[in-house]
Amino acid sequence: MSVENNAWKLATRPDGDIKQSDLEWVAETLPDPAEGEICVRHVYLSLDPTNRIWMSDIDQYMPPVAIGEVMRGGTLGVVEASNVNGYAVGDMVSGMGGWQKYTVGPANAWQVLPKDTGLPMTAFMGCLSFIGMTAYFGLLDICDPKPGETVVVNAAAGAVGSLVGQIAKIKDARVVGIAGSDDKCKWIKDELGFDEAINYKTENVLEMLKQYCPDGIDCVFENVGGQILDDQLTLMNNFSRIALCGLISTYNDLDAPGPKMFRNILMKRIMVKGFIVSDYMARAQEAMADLGKWMMEGKLQYRVDVRPGLENAPQVVNDLFVGANTGKLMIQISDE
Ligand SMILES: NC(=O)c1ccc[n+]([C@@H]2O[C@H](COP(=O)([O-])OP(=O)(O)OC[C@H]3O[C@@H](n4cnc5c(N)ncnc54)[C@H](OP(=O)(O)O)[C@@H]3O)[C@@H](O)[C@H]2O)c1
Repeated sequence: MSVENNAWKLATRPDGDIKQSDLEWVAETLPDPAEGEICVRHVYLSLDPTNRIWMSDIDQYMPPVAIGEVMRGGTLGVVEASNVNGYAVGDMVSGMGGWQKYTVGPANAWQVLPKDTGLPMTAFMGCLSFIGMTAYFGLLDICDPKPGETVVVNAAAGAVGSLVGQIAKIKDARVVGIAGSDDKCKWIKDELGFDEAINYKTENVLEMLKQYCPDGIDCVFENVGGQILDDQLTLMNNFSRIALCGLISTYNDLDAPGPKMFRNILMKRIMVKGFIVSDYMARAQEAMADLGKWMMEGKLQYRVDVRPGLENAPQVVNDLFVGANTGKLMIQISDE
């Protein structure tokens, strides 16, 4: 059963925002799966800020996507054909299928998702996934907030940030979120239980942080960088911690300057640790058990922002860089 595939392949390295012409839409016939291989029909494609990093030829945590290679991306899919025990036709699987409709390849690159959970398939991209693990380990392993401490998280209404704030509340911290619209601020405060929210597009972040963090900042979960990082550094306490998860404000601008308040890392003896979620893969079950439990208990909510059509991926991915997504951004490629 060979399949007709469509894929986005990287054609050129973007300069600034991703343009459709940076990718090439190709059609090709895939072979039948060989021994040890499966054919996966992709249902959901994860669109992530790091897609932009992978397109750049810079020193990074994985090799950049090569010119002519299918664009890398996380996917959820359904097994259509299998030559491997443990992978049955109809199983839901997750893996790095890339920006394409099908994958034929080694089964061990895919994880079979648990059955009969009662959860929608999108939960395995929006929360019970690398997204939930990023929030969980970045906050609990690096920031390690104590009850009553003040945690600040930016991109706070996004996929990772919205979970970070809720987990910090579960751990009895005070949480201040920074996000880019009044609606997002209202959602994280009124529905997710953040203590305070700052709209960085309309408010003076430094002044609002002074107001909302009268005892200073103990933990920062950093997703953005730039001026917001400087404002937070200004108010951090002695021996405070920063989980450096992302720097989205710089991904389209490789010449963006570093923080002006870098000196406070010395003055306040701040612990700053960059991390990539894959560093924690061996501990995935620990995160999944807690995230799943908190979801069942109604303590952890997540939002997904599902857009139709693989052909739209190059335009839609840019929504991450202007805040036009509400929750985990993904493309629906085929029916569940
Ligand atoms: N270290 C890891 O392993 C790991 C894993 C996953 C994600 N990450 C990082 O975590 C961060 C969030 O990723 P996500 O997947 O959860 O995406 P997301 O937060 O759902 O979407 C990105 C959000 O970033 C905000 N943003 C974009 N440009 C900005 C700017 N110039 N200044 C301030 N805010 C800006 C926008 O929200 P507003 O409307 O609020 O502006 C946008 O909605 C990213 O930096 C990503 O690279 C790291």
